Amino acid sequence: MGHDLSTDPGYLAYQYGDAARLRIRQEAHRRYSERPDDFLEWVVDHLDPQPGERIGDVGCGPGIYHPLVAARGAQVVALDPSWGMVAEVARQGGWVVQGDAQQLPWAHEAFHRVMANHMLYHVPDRRAALQEMWRVLRPGGRVVLATNAGDHLRRLHELHAQVARSLGYRPLEGSVTERFSLDHLALVRSVFPNARVHVRPDAFRFPTVEAALAYYASMAVDRIADPPGDGSHRPRLLAAMAEVLQEVWARDGVIRVEKTAGCFVAEKTVSG
Ligand SMILES: C[S@@+](CC[C@H](N)C(=O)[O-])C[C@H]1O[C@@H](n2cnc3c(N)ncnc32)[C@H](O)[C@@H]1O
Repeated sequence: MGHDLSTDPGYLAYQYGDAARLRIRQEAHRRYSERPDDFLEWVVDHLDPQPGERIGDVGCGPGIYHPLVAARGAQVVALDPSWGMVAEVARQGGWVVQGDAQQLPWAHEAFHRVMANHMLYHVPDRRAALQEMWRVLRPGGRVVLATNAGDHLRRLHELHAQVARSLGYRPLEGSVTERFSLDHLALVRSVFPNARVHVRPDAFRFPTVEAALAYYASMAVDRIADPPGDGSHRPRLLAAMAEVLQEVWARDGVIRVEKTAGCFVAEKTVSG
């Protein structure tokens, strides 16, 4: 694995070969978010799909948005490079193809709306992917790109860096998602000039050390330079992280980690 895990093919295969790790994080968001309203509904409100419309979902993962879009009477056509994700969506009866955001296998102006949620940070050429979304959108069509704020989960990443250093590992700076965060409005506007950013503050309130640790184990634990091929860093880091989290929990009675996210919204206007 190289240092930029966010686009490393080996890391992506490990992280998204099947839906297991993603499901752990999605379940944590559902159970431990401070805000009572649902993030997925919030994103779909911004997408605002209308009955009978065709919606493209780029980098769909296991398709967690699809039931919400279907409930509004629109039809989703999804794409993901991971065969495991494609199989998951197909198993649910979804319409899905294997492919890459940088070269969408879809006709010009095929969609009324396109969403690409929590995925552009994995795409080597993010601008090419945005241009492809522009191409497949009808004039007047809308794109929604959900992602994290630049400081999303900073506290967890700081604790990870502290723990990793204490064990002699070199922690990677920042997070996997920093290649495409809510700070990237200029990049989005370079293709969709009228893009707006909508920020949604939130935080995890993990009630137990185990809950926080499961989330950490699903992703951030791998953010070290040159991780050993046998994965031996994982049990070591998890044990050390458990001790640090235990201290936080003993002091605060909860483990609170801010996780602001949001989305970009834009329309394909004819004049740009
Ligand atoms: C964090 S998941 C997000 C899944 C889904 N959009 C969601 O919000 O639940 C990131 C997804 O992006 C996909 N992905 C990675 N590189 C991609 C690329 N170049 N083109 C399209 N999708 C990609 C991964 O396979 C994974 O399913």
